Amino acid sequence: MTESGQGPPSRPDSGRVLTPEPCMLVIFGGSGDLARRKLVPALYNLFLDGTLPSNFAVLGIGRKPLGDEDFRASTREGITAYSRRPLADKPWTEFERHLFYLSGSIEDPQSYQAIKTHLEKIEAERSLPGNRIFYLAIPPTSYAAVCEGLQRAGLVRPPDPAGPFCRIIVEKPIGRDLQSARQINAVIGQVFDESQIFRIDHYLGKETVQNIMVLRFANSIFEPIWNHKYIDHMQITVSEAEGVGTRATYYEETGALRDMVQNHLLQLLCLVAMEPPYSLESDVVRNVRIDVLRCLRPIAGKDVEQFTVRAQYSSGKVDGREVPGYRREPGVNPDSTTETYVALKLFLDNWRWAGVPFYLRTGKAMLKRATEVAVQFKDIPQILFNPNPAARQPPNVLALRIQPEEGMSLRIISKVPGSKVQTNPVEMNFKYGDAFGAPSPEAYERLLLDVMVGDASLFMRRDAVEASWAWVTPILDGWAAYGTKWLPEYLAGSWGPVEADRLIENDGRKWRTL
Ligand code: BG6
Repeated sequence: MTESGQGPPSRPDSGRVLTPEPCMLVIFGGSGDLARRKLVPALYNLFLDGTLPSNFAVLGIGRKPLGDEDFRASTREGITAYSRRPLADKPWTEFERHLFYLSGSIEDPQSYQAIKTHLEKIEAERSLPGNRIFYLAIPPTSYAAVCEGLQRAGLVRPPDPAGPFCRIIVEKPIGRDLQSARQINAVIGQVFDESQIFRIDHYLGKETVQNIMVLRFANSIFEPIWNHKYIDHMQITVSEAEGVGTRATYYEETGALRDMVQNHLLQLLCLVAMEPPYSLESDVVRNVRIDVLRCLRPIAGKDVEQFTVRAQYSSGKVDGREVPGYRREPGVNPDSTTETYVALKLFLDNWRWAGVPFYLRTGKAMLKRATEVAVQFKDIPQILFNPNPAARQPPNVLALRIQPEEGMSLRIISKVPGSKVQTNPVEMNFKYGDAFGAPSPEAYERLLLDVMVGDASLFMRRDAVEASWAWVTPILDGWAAYGTKWLPEYLAGSWGPVEADRLIENDGRKWRTL
């Protein structure tokens, strides 16, 4: 179709209209860290933007014996500390009227009648139509109790396009291997229909992650070269400067592969490697993402040692701060074999990516916080403009910077001004902040709004979660089989262990310095 307007009208899903209906958000774990740091600040920012429904209520449920006023006070502190935009008195006074709290044990089946009574009272007082979203900001071990409790109390309605909606949001980790992921999915699936379940991977809510799709499919120059004919390899890096912090109990049981690769890094991979979806309808997009997971070449048995590196940080300095070695962090077993760093080399066995390696790495206590996808294009024939063919001209690299300096850069080779023919790489740089002025919304803002409008594109479907565990579990099994006595180390504040350098350097390539 040309711009002259010949051809069919554009598809109805080519622009999103976000108008959520009035609803009630019930947060299990309402007094917890996630609610305080992420969820309520996200709601406050949506409120400031005027994007929340005109009528909404938030009911926090938790063990802490708080009243509505205490909950509002602690929420206010959370917003003051973590909100993207500062708390202002006037909007806060408006916003806090929508916040409620009920204390109770989620393990106790009796609690659910009280929740029902309270919820219905708020709905009646606020003239809410019965649209409900249940957010499980609690460990997965409690999912069964909550789902069963909600069902027994008659709080779960089956999907009905003509009636009020009922949705559930679940956080990671969904399982620690394929089997446990299936169990968790089954527990939720017994009570909620798949169309009602929103599994969060907050990376998918990041603005710059969403921009990957726009970059690829709203520009004509990239897609023709986005394949094995032009691309030498890709690197996906998620490095964190923070160590394990106060989460040792969780992290000891988890490690970097489960915590970051199984979800966030594999989802980044899906976005950069997927085929173009034919529409933006949520299942169409989710289908092309999951196809990538299905093409992942298995890494199992002997291959695990060859294609993966795991390591732990030893003591060092990050940002001038002394960081103890992982095994000396408070709450960590001094003999721990939990990995705080992973590097992987993987292949996608499909037509587009035949033979192209993808190198992934992620770690805690690294030199700096940086998330990036780098696409390295193939070398040019080393014939022109290169006096020394032994020293190859640097290749073109398109780097998509996800955080913290959101943007992208393209490395190209340019002539150095002067009479000699001398070349040098230069970077074309685009910074999100400079181009659009306003800071990007937080991932949770976008994701909460999407649940309210019922758009599941940025959420993990059951089959995707299980497909990614199906690929990750043999690596975990391989590590277990090859023993856990010794783990390579890397200095806190470095770019990772030498073993990871070897993984890529053995192929004649190098990790990027970010
Ligand atoms: C979480 C992990 O999912 O993602 C954390 O559990 C990690 O360990 C965090 O620190 C990183 O998220 P972000 O948005 O800060 O890159």
